[in-house]
Amino acid sequence: MLRSLALVLALLFTGMIAARAEDTAQQAFEKDAQAAIKELASSLKSSLMAAMNEGGPAEAVSVCHLIAPTLAAEISKKYGLEIRRTSLKVRNPANEADAWETDVLQRFETRLASGEAIQKLTFKEKVDSESGSQWRMMKAIPTDKVCLSCHGKKIAEPVQARIDTHYPDDMATGFKLGDIRGAFTVSRDIIE
Ligand code: HEC
Repeated sequence: MLRSLALVLALLFTGMIAARAEDTAQQAFEKDAQAAIKELASSLKSSLMAAMNEGGPAEAVSVCHLIAPTLAAEISKKYGLEIRRTSLKVRNPANEADAWETDVLQRFETRLASGEAIQKLTFKEKVDSESGSQWRMMKAIPTDKVCLSCHGKKIAEPVQARIDTHYPDDMATGFKLGDIRGAFTVSRDIIE
């Protein structure tokens, strides 16, 4: 009787500790993911502004082409996770959304259309797949005025020429102020 009670208690404790560990890992992921998003957003913006001021938008296309993937890789390494940018209409095919990301981006569009503020559009989830489990998080990226010279409806000819050189399959134009341009997408493998 006592033995089985002890066993039940031991099992309960193990379960509680495992659940606690998962909570802590999830919280750590959310904290790191938010910090990584903030850092990537601000470093992209300052590189973009510096390049625009220096050489104008056409030159900045080439800078963005080189710098955006490097910055994402550096910040991924720093926080021990993977951070990228993606969209329903990508410029760089390497940024294409997977099935989970496409689904989240479509739900962001629905949430925006039903009146939710674009700054509030985030989503996180534990995702199980054949290759293992991951924490995942996404945050929408709004289209600002400064984005329109490269992602808007009217792209100046020299800018378009640069885009065509680097991205022959570009889909990322035609956006207007306040549209969802894309999203930051962050993941971390769960080691069990
Ligand atoms: C000077 C031109 C330029 C401006 C201005 C610009 N972008 Fe981009 N954008 C690019 C280029 C080039 C890429 C492709 C980068 C790469 O190869 O990963 C890109 C890619 C992206 C992506 C990744 C998804 C994709 O389409 O491949 C997002 C999201 C994005 N831009 C958002 C923005 C936002 C938001 C702004 C305004 C704050 C902005 N961009 C301003 C040139 C620009």
